Amino acid sequence: MLNIAIDGPVGAGKSTIADEVAARLHILHLDTGAMYRAVGLAVMDAGLDIQDEAGVTALCAAGRAHVDVRYQDGAQRTLVNGQDVTGRIRTQQAGTAASAVSRYAAVRQMLVRRQQDIAAAQPMLLDGRDICTVVLPNAPVKIYLTASAEARARRRLRQLQEKGESPSFEDILREVNARDHQDMTRAVDPLRQAPDAQVVDSTNMNFEQTVQAILDIVEAAHAE
Ligand code: DC
Repeated sequence: MLNIAIDGPVGAGKSTIADEVAARLHILHLDTGAMYRAVGLAVMDAGLDIQDEAGVTALCAAGRAHVDVRYQDGAQRTLVNGQDVTGRIRTQQAGTAASAVSRYAAVRQMLVRRQQDIAAAQPMLLDGRDICTVVLPNAPVKIYLTASAEARARRRLRQLQEKGESPSFEDILREVNARDHQDMTRAVDPLRQAPDAQVVDSTNMNFEQTVQAILDIVEAAHAE
């Protein structure tokens, strides 16, 4: 299966870059972070504490954090318990909840299996934290997309401002560093660079340059 795996830390532009790369390759893009965000929302909607691993595990076992992904005109819609939460998952709070619940083995097992099923059905580009290492260890193209914490915080700030939120740069930078720490040090499937992944550091690259760098890697892999 022609699958492309992209991992990287928060705010590296993975989602938007991945969307564009997938569109140019005429394949679908699965944003796996959206699925963790959907579970985070389900946990909050159920009135549970995101730190309560036993409660979250029980919620998943009961099928009450059921995540579905659909495509509408090529764009991903993310559903949890049958409800479309595509818009609601894009807040800072949903991101923080996602990072917290993504530490739990029950959540990861449930979502990794779903992601593997989706990716087995069609050629796709998947982006996340553990795609190269766990979800698709045999993907023919593996990329680690990163940028400095400051560059990522600047981009994140701009995104949130566009959504009408107005956090300070210092708060965002602190949040980026805290998320990196949580994502990289969790016990189950932490974010790490796969040894066979190619690194794209976008600190000094614009959107188009980053897209092109990834397309070049895909093309080189196919030429082999
Ligand atoms: O990329 P994002 O900010 O939407 O991801 C939200 C959180 O979900 C992130 O902090 C860690 C978690 N995540 C994960 O553990 N594994 C993935 N494949 C994708 C996201």
